[in-house]
Amino acid sequence: MSTDVENRGVPVTSDPAAAELLVAPRTRRRIGKRSRTNFEMYSWLFMRMSGILLVILVFGHLLIMNVLDGGVNRLNFGFVAGRWASPFWQIWDFLQLVLAELHGTNGMRTIINDYSKNDSTRFWLKMLLYLSAVIVLGLGTLVIFSFNPNIGD
Ligand code: HEM
Repeated sequence: MSTDVENRGVPVTSDPAAAELLVAPRTRRRIGKRSRTNFEMYSWLFMRMSGILLVILVFGHLLIMNVLDGGVNRLNFGFVAGRWASPFWQIWDFLQLVLAELHGTNGMRTIINDYSKNDSTRFWLKMLLYLSAVIVLGLGTLVIFSFNPNIGD
């Protein structure tokens, strides 16, 4: 069997399937195409930065809501109403919503780009993804900032 891939003259693999992956790992259609912006680099950076912030926000949320001071047993409408009376917790929850949604959407965008082979499948899956993100962000923002503790008003 012939060696398909070499690195500076050193044979790397003779397995045709492995050779294909080494030459063109994932997202093949982008090979040879150069983007004018650094969008993918910023998106990579965003995943790391939002990941760090999410650790603080999500684990803080988990501790406050489910562990500390009576934990889950004290959660009810009144508790949420009291919490959202404070701009601090509104902004905490808003950041959680925005960062998790954008992080998850961007991660799914990468997965769709990597795995869908057909151009129109890739396009429509991403449109569906972006639409769902807009709906979740829109509804979530509305709930956090228009929440009215006085039901019936
Ligand atoms: C504790 C909070 C989180 C941390 C520290 C974190 C960290 C990360 C990092 C560093 C990546 C990039 C991995 C890579 O490029 O190889 C990633 C990817 C991803 N994350 Fe998160 N994440 C967190 C929460 C979430 C949440 C809440 C969601 C869903 C809403 C999510 C969905 C994803 C998806 C879909 C990917 C793409 C996976 C892939 O490329 O195969 N993550 N995460």
